Amino acid sequence: MKALVLSGGSGTRLRPFSYSMPKQLIPIANKPVLEHVLEDIRNLGVTEIGVIVGGWAAQIAEVIGDGSRLGVKVTYIPQDKPLGLAHCVTLARPFLGDDDFVMYLGDNMLPEGTAHIADEFRAGRPAAQVVVHKVSDPRAFGVAELDENGRVERLVEKPREPKSDLALIGVYFFTPAIHTAVAAIEPSARGELEITDAIQWLLTSGAEVKASEYHGYWKDTGRAEDVLDCNRQLLMSLRPEIAGEVDEASELNGLVRIEPGARVIRTRIEGPVIIGAGTVVEDCHIGPDTSIGDGCTLRGSRIRDSIVLAGATISHVPGIHGSLIGRGATVDAGVETDPYHRLVVGDHTRIEVAA
Ligand code: TTP
Repeated sequence: MKALVLSGGSGTRLRPFSYSMPKQLIPIANKPVLEHVLEDIRNLGVTEIGVIVGGWAAQIAEVIGDGSRLGVKVTYIPQDKPLGLAHCVTLARPFLGDDDFVMYLGDNMLPEGTAHIADEFRAGRPAAQVVVHKVSDPRAFGVAELDENGRVERLVEKPREPKSDLALIGVYFFTPAIHTAVAAIEPSARGELEITDAIQWLLTSGAEVKASEYHGYWKDTGRAEDVLDCNRQLLMSLRPEIAGEVDEASELNGLVRIEPGARVIRTRIEGPVIIGAGTVVEDCHIGPDTSIGDGCTLRGSRIRDSIVLAGATISHVPGIHGSLIGRGATVDAGVETDPYHRLVVGDHTRIEVAA
């Protein structure tokens, strides 16, 4: 079996980050989403992975390389425009050949893993095996209606009155039968070749389509809120380790990971918290639920429930929460007596300022 990871797309919901980086490289617990994805695939025993890349191909290749660091072999497949999930399957045909494959959306997180679903697929080899997850409001999703044996009877895209609460999430297993389906469908009203249309085509032509429920935590990391939620979830199983320096005046509680070369000075840390390599934290109160990337500087600040990306600086800010701070960004306290805020804010940035 091979794997196809979709790591192109436009990422409009994750602006302004997606102006300067692919959303699949956003770190969750200090590791890019895409690395979490590739590790899950490796845990299925699949190592030959095609990665669809769009305009951010160079940045993705810089981080992931040929995949050997993660124990996999990556082949990059360029996509000029995000023309849909099924379009990605068409582009990948030369790479996939006639092998079965797992298709994985590069921004989806299923930390409990999908190994049991891969085993089911390998045992039964239906034309398609989709992964579904119970959601409270199925109206925003593609929804699968199943018979009592877990066979899919019908797929409905964003139903107004859902008959099932099982949403299709970002992992699909296919035999080569999908290639005939993808070649047969037409672009949807939004101009994309939809994978749900291709799977529905298989159903209509009498092929077997099964669904397996994933019961663990799942997140599509498409928006900042989702990224923060996912960070909180992953930090709950953080492996604590103190590889950097922590001075005597600091206090660490709960799950805390301090990477090599980081320095923690006169600081209180309430885990779960991860502090990246080479980061300096001085006179701060950090956590819980916070990931600080590599090479950051934090001084005299209080921060919780947040992600700070590599190289950012935060100075003398007394309260930051629920925040995502980009690479090399600076957040600084202004002059105390000045009632005005000074802001240099990029396009589509969101800032909440207390009155
Ligand atoms: P989406 O999140 O559905 O699409 P998007 O990246 O365009 O995001 P937004 O809605 O915020 O603009 O895509 C799911 C995953 O599939 C994501 O990792 C991007 C990837 N993808 C491709 O690689 N090629 C495509 O043509 C599309 C539509 C998505």
